[in-house]
Amino acid sequence: MKDIKILAIESSCDETAAAVIENGRKVLSNVIYSQIDLHTLYGGVVPEIASRKHIEKVNPVIEQALTDAGLGLKDLDAIAVTYGPGLVGPLLVGVSAAKAVAYASGLPLIGVHHIEGHVSANFLEHPDLEPPFLCLIVSGGHTHLVIMKDYGEYEILGRTHDDAAGEAYDKVARAIGLGYPGGPKIDKVAKEGNPKAIAFPRAKVDECPYDFSFSGLKSAVLNYLNQAEMKGEEINRNDVAASFQAAVVDVLVERTMHAAKEYGFKKVALAGGVASNSALRAGMKEACEKRGLEMIYPSPIYCTDNAAMIGAAAYYEFLKGNFSGLDLNAIPNLKLGERK
Ligand code: KG4
Ligand code: ZN
Repeated sequence: MKDIKILAIESSCDETAAAVIENGRKVLSNVIYSQIDLHTLYGGVVPEIASRKHIEKVNPVIEQALTDAGLGLKDLDAIAVTYGPGLVGPLLVGVSAAKAVAYASGLPLIGVHHIEGHVSANFLEHPDLEPPFLCLIVSGGHTHLVIMKDYGEYEILGRTHDDAAGEAYDKVARAIGLGYPGGPKIDKVAKEGNPKAIAFPRAKVDECPYDFSFSGLKSAVLNYLNQAEMKGEEINRNDVAASFQAAVVDVLVERTMHAAKEYGFKKVALAGGVASNSALRAGMKEACEKRGLEMIYPSPIYCTDNAAMIGAAAYYEFLKGNFSGLDLNAIPNLKLGERK
């Protein structure tokens, strides 16, 4: 069979990204324009600012992805784009750009679910990886424990009832004065702190053994900070970060190991921005090694938002002939496994 080359576009939050992927696995180019510096000023992503920046950057990023791959539109087989979930304005920019390129080139269009993209990031550096496997998805907007049963087929075992793991990182980071985005900053300062210094809670969700809840943990950190302030005590920021992180990692590892045992999985994958967290990787690795499980995770550049992962997921839709019409719309609350 001829090699299939897909141009993929991602703009669901604050990264404008385009990539060219061959046969769902080989990255021919991967261009990411991060808007983080713009949003740092406001302590979080401002949707209107993100949309405007996407409009400015989407064409140059697409052109750069084609140039880096050494290809023109005539060399491609399809155009893929994230159409949800995410921020509606930012999503619309990517979807509109992808539709325009598909229309002008006559190439088929493939709408991709952002979270399916995150899971598929694991295919980029593991050429032999095939479903089924268990995957923990931990990003700024999502925390899901899923079984990837087959390409494009997911069974959700657990999800968060409130904050996503990355959201908790970002909120705690703000509270201890680290700024946005908090995840990488907490990861860094926690290395200098004691993870056992403060006993923060590890929440369980009644009757949902694979579900998560992080809002109680976030409140516990805020209460700890308030009490210290009222008593005039100085806090050790590194200890707070390390103890918070230990509580998050314990819960993520415990639920994942429980599911791996119950469902008999030998392969455990990580996905999403928080999957690049060093403590999570170390904790999951130790737990997997203890049980003889294989652990798979993408390089940090493929953990946070990128278009290469969208191209990886799109390839399997291409093989199934799952193409989207030019009426493809952005769906901000698109559910995992849902096709529209
Ligand atoms: O997957 P992603 O880029 O965007 C979403 O789809 O949400 O994830 C972004 C999230 C942010 O909350 C960020 O703080 C977190 O991933 N993150 C991290 C690390 N790097 C990014 N969290 C913990 N440790 C990290 N090293
Ligand atoms: Zn994401």
